[in-house]
Amino acid sequence: MDDFVTLKYNGDTFKLPVIIGSQGEKGIDITRLRGETGFITLDPGYANTGACQSSITYMDGEKGILRYRGIPVEELAEKSTFKETAYLLIHGRLPNAEELRNFSVMMNDHSLVHEDMKTFYQNFPRASHPMGILSAMVNALRSFYPELLSLQEEIDITVTRLLAKIRTMAAMSYKISRGHTTVYPRPDLAYCENFLNMMFDTPVKPYRIRREVVRALEVFWILHADHEQNCSTSAVRVVGSARTNLYAAISAGIAALWGPLHGGANQAVVEMLTQIHEEGGNFKKFIDRAKDKSDPFRLMGFGHRVYKTFDPRAVIMKKMCDQLLDALHIKDPLLDIAKELEEVALKDAYFVDHHLYPNVDFYSGVVLRAIGIPTSMFTVMFAIGRLPGWIAQWKESADDPQWRICRPRQIYTGPQECHYAPLEDR
Ligand code: CMC
Repeated sequence: MDDFVTLKYNGDTFKLPVIIGSQGEKGIDITRLRGETGFITLDPGYANTGACQSSITYMDGEKGILRYRGIPVEELAEKSTFKETAYLLIHGRLPNAEELRNFSVMMNDHSLVHEDMKTFYQNFPRASHPMGILSAMVNALRSFYPELLSLQEEIDITVTRLLAKIRTMAAMSYKISRGHTTVYPRPDLAYCENFLNMMFDTPVKPYRIRREVVRALEVFWILHADHEQNCSTSAVRVVGSARTNLYAAISAGIAALWGPLHGGANQAVVEMLTQIHEEGGNFKKFIDRAKDKSDPFRLMGFGHRVYKTFDPRAVIMKKMCDQLLDALHIKDPLLDIAKELEEVALKDAYFVDHHLYPNVDFYSGVVLRAIGIPTSMFTVMFAIGRLPGWIAQWKESADDPQWRICRPRQIYTGPQECHYAPLEDR
């Protein structure tokens, strides 16, 4: 088999090397294309463009496969914890018992947030969206915890700081938005327990940590932990490529995730299901609107750039949603609407022809509601989950000998050279 493709144009022939990934994925290496041919490629939305080689996450959108460092997400959701999965993504392998212990100790040591940061939280307008606050505060961490001397130290300490503090910061923003005192992290609680306690414990009503809720949160975060070169991860890589600090790169990732086409979809799904419920459960109207090309409405929680079959995360999320609601004896009408909507959409010719299946966000909102998370915090929950992936991808790009500043080209379509007209002549 040839290990190059041939490009022919106006009698000239160019050979472009073929790159094959470890799962047989095929790519054409165009790094020398412009130098040798004068051409660039045009690919709006980068649907056909590989921006890097990566050994972190493997997805097969046709078969519905998702693996972190080779391990199927189904196995991790069943057997692992979020902390262990974070270690796996960042360090490339599962930790042994001692490594996991040390990771936990470091996470505990770095879990407090500088008290002066509270001043900032208190001065955001009450109606601020928690994602805007989170993005700003993660960026502000750089002012409180300045850059370290070596890249290795930066990685170990900054990474742990981020992982440990993000849940403290998220819970703080919730408490402050409610006008409540903040709750400190506790050394006797594990990662997910600690977050739940910081969110829901109050001086007048101690929070009862339930095993089923903790497990649901572990699985929710494991399912969100990485998803290769999606919009927010690409934002982290692009911003990081300018050699900015890790906090700033993660802050950019949070901003990208906020959008309703990306992580913001989990909030948008619950808002859509609520609207359907309030309008008497007429979901057919919403299906019709989603199919109407003159209407910008889309069925939120449906469709994916890569998955053209079931999103494996959505399959696990749906099952977990049923189990959690059962265990907590919750009857949520939004779950019934979601199931009916899914059933109708999956049989509808438009959705079948467009390969539109429920994605991870379709059932995740119902899970978060059952845990007690307010709708405005849903995308923050996604961000906490995605943090290990962003860090792993940032670290991988920083370790890559081909690490260059990301600087795409364009095909210019504006006016040809023209001249400045003085004001009186315009
Ligand atoms: N409802 C109705 N039609 C849709 C939908 C939808 N949810 N998603 C895609 N389509 C149609 C779209 O109109 C287009 O139709 P046509 O080819 O006839 O013009 C076709 O399907 C392809 O859509 P696209 O916008 O070119 O696909 P994309 O790969 O650029 O966008 C997406 C992917 C996820 C942004 C899109 O499916 C969408 O907007 N979904 C709703 C928002 C959502 O649930 N986002 C969460 C994604 S999963 C979480 C994450 O990882 O970010």
